[in-house]
Amino acid sequence: MDINNINWYPGHMKKAIDKIKENIKLVDIVLVLVDSRIVKSSMNPVLDEILKDKPKLILLNKMDMADPKITQNWINYFSKKGIVALPIDSKNGKNLDKIEPVSRKILEDVLENRKNKNIKSETIRMMIVGIPNVGKSTIINKLSNRQSAKTGNTPGVTKSNQWIRIKSKFELLDTPGVLWPKFEDNEIGLNLAFTGAIKDEILDEENLAFKLIEKLIQIDPKILEDRYSIDTTGKETIEIMDDIAIRRGCLLKGKNIDYFKVSTILIDEFRKTKLGRISLEDVCD
Ligand code: G4P
Repeated sequence: MDINNINWYPGHMKKAIDKIKENIKLVDIVLVLVDSRIVKSSMNPVLDEILKDKPKLILLNKMDMADPKITQNWINYFSKKGIVALPIDSKNGKNLDKIEPVSRKILEDVLENRKNKNIKSETIRMMIVGIPNVGKSTIINKLSNRQSAKTGNTPGVTKSNQWIRIKSKFELLDTPGVLWPKFEDNEIGLNLAFTGAIKDEILDEENLAFKLIEKLIQIDPKILEDRYSIDTTGKETIEIMDDIAIRRGCLLKGKNIDYFKVSTILIDEFRKTKLGRISLEDVCD
């Protein structure tokens, strides 16, 4: 796999960033959605520059797919930097009810200031930003819960933007900010590919599966050993791939290995959490 082969449309990216910058002015707090399994790789560093001093809450989404110990490491890591990170599972709604109280706590000073200035509104407005596939649509749908009323166009809001009322004093901009992931190195590109954040067609399945085996062995050989009842001790990556293929009956005529099939199975099972809750990046990485 060669990261340089990925189209990343710098023109589109600039447009998206400009749009995010414009929308940020309309909200009190930005919810930065990242994938708990790949916290670093799913967070575009350009965001720090865009957000500057804007209050933000990091949402560690897909907590149900990540190793809870590592998610806690990330929470502690951000906490030391004075940043609040909240683990959530948007698909099942876990911890979504904590977003409002946590946001209010982060915005304590802002809200106090409003009071002092005799501004009556206690409404918090927020927007969600994140790279593709991190769960932006899922969380917006879940938060709005279909029953929520749209508050209609508000002066100063671009015509296409609508506010979704989550609770009486809590509103969400219905258009999320889509960030392009930052490909600083191959490792980040691979992490994005393993989790499906980058489209499959630009990557070679066999190479990706090969790299995934290397990564999983590095994290803990038992992940593959337990799932496929194989022994990985002293084996080369390709031998491990062959063993998985044999276990799963991925064989062509003449007992040759069907590498495409075994690669597809492995990647799919990883993405469906069938190999367990695995975080690909820890704080110390
Ligand atoms: P996006 O708008 O940021 O591009 O992401 P989207 O909401 O489309 O979510 C991408 C995939 O991630 C979806 O899976 C979605 O169900 C899943 N997802 C989002 N949040 C969570 C979470 O907290 N936990 C888990 N386990 N999954 C999450 P999909 O395979 O594309 O669709 P589907 O199979 O769920 O229908």
